[in-house]
Order: sequence, then C-alpha cells, then structure tokens
Amino acid sequence: MSDAAHALARARSVSVLTGAGTSAESGLATFRGTGGWWRNLDPMTLATPDAFARDPKLVWEFYQHRRERALEAMPNAGHETLAAMESAFEAFTLVTQNVDGLHHRAGSKNVITLHGDLWTVRCVAEGTSREDRRVPLLELPPACACGALLRPGVVWFGEPLVPGVMEAATRAVLASEVLLVVGTSCVVYPAAGLVPAALSRGVRVFEVNTERAADFAGVTSILGKSGEVLPELWALAREQREARAR
Ligand code: OAD
Repeated sequence: MSDAAHALARARSVSVLTGAGTSAESGLATFRGTGGWWRNLDPMTLATPDAFARDPKLVWEFYQHRRERALEAMPNAGHETLAAMESAFEAFTLVTQNVDGLHHRAGSKNVITLHGDLWTVRCVAEGTSREDRRVPLLELPPACACGALLRPGVVWFGEPLVPGVMEAATRAVLASEVLLVVGTSCVVYPAAGLVPAALSRGVRVFEVNTERAADFAGVTSILGKSGEVLPELWALAREQREARAR
C-alpha cells in the first residue's frame, strides 16, 4: 500500500484497468468468483453471436436482468475514489471491462469501455448503435425501426472489440507512470494484455483485488476489497501529494 501511495504521489499520468470486482460491493455479480455469472450459466449460450442467432430472446432476458440489476445498484466507494482521482493528475484514463455504467454514474469522465455498455443497443442489419435506457424493454427481443433485431451493445466472446478502442487504451496505459489493475481476474484478452504491455514499458503496476489475480512478474498486489483499499490508498497518496506541493 505504501509503495503504491508513494508512486501515486509522484505520478503525473495514471491509468486504471477495472473489472467486475470493482462493482461487487455495489451488489453486482462478478463472472468467475463465488456467485459469478459464469459459475452457473454457460457464456456460450448467452454471450456469443451464435447464441444470439439461435435464441435472441434468451440472450436478451439475460441482458435485461443485468440492466435491471445495474440500475438498482449504486456506485461504491471504489468507483467514487477513481472518479475523484481523475482531476488530480495531468493525465488519467480509466479503462474498464465493465458494462454496468457505474464508473460514469460515479462521475468518471475519461472512461474507455472495452467491452461496450449495457445501455447501448445496436441494429444487427444497419450496424448503428444508440443509447437505450428503457428498463424493462417493452418486448424481447427488441426490434429496430427498420424491422431487424436490436442486440445489446456489448462485446461477446469471439468478437473483436470496437475498432480503435483497444488502441486508445494501449496508448493511455503505455503513456502512464502508474497502472492500477482493480477487481479483474486478468484472464480475458485483449484487456489482460494491457498488464504485461505496461510492465514491459516500465510502468509501475499495482493490483487491487481480494486475491492475487494479475499473475505477471513485477505486479505488486494490494489484497482487499476495492471499495475499502482505493479510498485508503488515495487518502495516503493525496496527503503525500499535498505535502510535496507545499
Ligand atoms: P471476473 O469475474 O473474471 O473477475 C473478478 C475479479 O474481481 C476476481 O479476480 C475477484 O477476485 C475480484 N474481486 C471480487 N470482489 C472484489 C472486491 N470487492 N474488490 C476487488 N476485487 C474483487 O471479472 P472480469 O475480470 O471483469 O467479458 O472479467 C473479464 C471479462 O470476462 C468481463 O468483462 C466479461 C467476462 O466474460 C465479456 O462479457 C466480454
């Protein structure tokens, strides 16, 4: 913790990679932990283009449920701390794998959503995306005005990320002095690849997780819940930053 606070106290540019664990204390399930979605449900039947082609209503029922849960949830102290950190640095980029919108709701502005967003729908025929915050959606599966199906605006297994998004995330991470890796199992690529990429460029990498997950040489793990560790870490770093500024 003190190493991380020291690094944050001196840094001008910081990036953060977050995953589902960041929203666990807001009451949202993770994917692979206890009670995680993929512990009980098969992602191949719910989160792939083939699954949507086979049974769009079933896929939409899953995303509708996640929209309802996300809407009920409130940002926690971890999200709020990351939002508060943004204005303290010359450059601060939050790269998230989460689709729940809680970083935005906490006030984070410079957010790169690697896996899309629960609140966007995309027409399968036209390929155009738009915001849709209706909960519940009136009919499942919802249809576009053109008659084709609308799909959730999220990235599914086997799909590429939205063009340019990974490049922007990589640029931000490699340009930073410190990378915080928060609440992610670091098993899904290309997102997880940001960690070794950062390490190879000499970026200091600290992980905040309830267990060691970012298993790359050079990562320092701070074990604990992000809603508890991040406020404590930022309080320490901010104190040191203020002392340095005096
Ligand atoms: P995972 O469910 O794989 O990992 C969640 C991580 O959060 C685990 O390492 C937990 O130990 C940690 N964790 C749990 N509670 C925590 C807490 N309170 N504070 C800090 N850490 C905590 O979720 P992701 O890594 O986000 O992709 O999963 C990556 C991607 O896999 C997701 O974006 C999703 C999923 O399939 C798609 O849907 C494309």
